[in-house]
Amino acid sequence: MRYRSIMRRSFCWYSALTLAGTAVGCRHTSQATSNEPTTNHFPLRCTGKVEDFERELAVLETVFWEPDDTTSLRQLIRMTELVKGKRVLEIGTGTGLISLCCLQASAERVVATDINPAAVQNAIQNAEWLELPVDRFDVRLVSKDDPSAFAVLGPDERFDVIISNPPWEDGQPSRIDDYALYDSDFALLNSILSGYQSRLYPAGRLLLAYGCVEAIRAIQQMCDQRNLTARLLDDRNLSDLPNLFLPGMLIEVIDQR
Ligand SMILES: C[S@@+](CC[C@H](N)C(=O)[O-])C[C@H]1O[C@@H](n2cnc3c(N)ncnc32)[C@H](O)[C@@H]1O
Repeated sequence: MRYRSIMRRSFCWYSALTLAGTAVGCRHTSQATSNEPTTNHFPLRCTGKVEDFERELAVLETVFWEPDDTTSLRQLIRMTELVKGKRVLEIGTGTGLISLCCLQASAERVVATDINPAAVQNAIQNAEWLELPVDRFDVRLVSKDDPSAFAVLGPDERFDVIISNPPWEDGQPSRIDDYALYDSDFALLNSILSGYQSRLYPAGRLLLAYGCVEAIRAIQQMCDQRNLTARLLDDRNLSDLPNLFLPGMLIEVIDQR
């Protein structure tokens, strides 16, 4: 199971083997060249290309890279006014990919969190590399002692949009890179659903990206228990999909009370 997850969600290494030298996916490189983003503390693992940016993004060692997780989310950010002029929170930013899309789409302010210190560095460096407005980008490290979704926010911090592509599977992370894949007992998901309402301004939106049937069913169940609705913004039917699938599915959590 773990092997299967890593094979599916560590596209970077697969790409390095099969797509080396092409403009698609993630190229494995041990050293930055003049055309590539540079790193200072955590080493560069590879670079990754997405349709949202002309330049490739840096992917540091231990940081997650699978842009197919968020194809529909990035399209929504790119093609609509979802984040334009809005205050955005991204939970679990990795390379910064989603937050960078929000900055490019004229978000007023983006706060991003991650439990992996390499991801914090990675997101900031990618914002600088892409010449996005870093003064509007605030990346915060989450402590393993309190990894709940809103632990690094001030008591009064609110947002117009909360976005997350969290770890998809119920499992126990051991190494730091496991935190991209495993959410033990869906504790992070639970903390998002328990706390998001008090973190949104009126008419604010919560959007989650998941490509795991078990997790999406857990979201539906947790939403039922809280009188919330999990709206799948996707044409695919869960019962037709394997447990882990790509591209990921976009889910909006709505409070209809
Ligand atoms: C599936 S990856 C998504 C990364 C990025 N948003 C993307 O779409 O490429 C999940 C990310 O959540 C981070 N993470 C896991 N648990 C976390 C927590 N409790 N708080 C903040 N970030 C967390 C992981 O380190 C990882 O970077």
